[in-house]
Amino acid sequence: MGSDETEKVRQLPIGVFDSGVGGLTVVREIMRQIPNERIIYFGDTARVPYGSKSRETVTKYARQIVRFLKSCHVKAIVIACNTASSFALDQIEQESDIPVLGVVKPGVKTAVAATKNKKIGVIATEGTISSQIYTKYIQAVHPEMEILGKACPLFVPLVEEGLLEDPVTDEIAERYLGGLKDLGIDTLILGCTHYPLIRGTIGRVMGESVTLVNPAYETALALKQLLDEQHLLCETKPGLGDNKYRFFVSDGADKFQHFANSIFKYGILSAKQINIEEY
Ligand code: DGL
Repeated sequence: MGSDETEKVRQLPIGVFDSGVGGLTVVREIMRQIPNERIIYFGDTARVPYGSKSRETVTKYARQIVRFLKSCHVKAIVIACNTASSFALDQIEQESDIPVLGVVKPGVKTAVAATKNKKIGVIATEGTISSQIYTKYIQAVHPEMEILGKACPLFVPLVEEGLLEDPVTDEIAERYLGGLKDLGIDTLILGCTHYPLIRGTIGRVMGESVTLVNPAYETALALKQLLDEQHLLCETKPGLGDNKYRFFVSDGADKFQHFANSIFKYGILSAKQINIEEY
């Protein structure tokens, strides 16, 4: 590749996706850690939640989204969804000619570094918990560590509805997390990208002695390293009006845009609805 062409590839966007708004917690970190990068985000709002669906269905959805993102000429893909990472990352990696990154391995790395008593809790969707992926990854390297998983299926709809600080969310968090708290874990992985948006509630229930791990930070760091290794980091700052960040959804673009604007410091330009079934 000539140097002009290499420069063009570096300026291509990174594709990021999730079932809905959860992946925005990863986007937020990517924006912070590698601010030169352009991003194309897809939230599958018509088909959320993924957490209660089968491996086959989630893999089919993930493949469609990868095809859509590739049609936008992305240079790398981040699966900003634990459920899709648990079920489909290996397959998508095998099929892809561009780098693909999930959120599970980065989360594991942070949790292993954080725990002192070797008892780690994982809260996630039913799909992620039943896949046992966190237990497998952690115990492959640290068989002495105890991993205690708990599925929290109502957290995703609560977040999608914007009930981030709400008595209903407090009540559900108490029910889900009360038992986990008594098991003596000192570290809790927020194993669903929606959960950092209710981190305040989760932290209040778990108490100060439990370290909460948000895999988003380590994911953005891993992405930066990966792009750097592959000489894909964008070195120039995109100009204003350069479509730096673009957001797509499969339904409810206005609702998504409103939500995204409430969690980012500055407004996003717009969110556009597409028909993902066409991909
Ligand atoms: N945010 C996703 C995850 O990390 C998906 C949640 C869902 O759609 O159930 O698992």
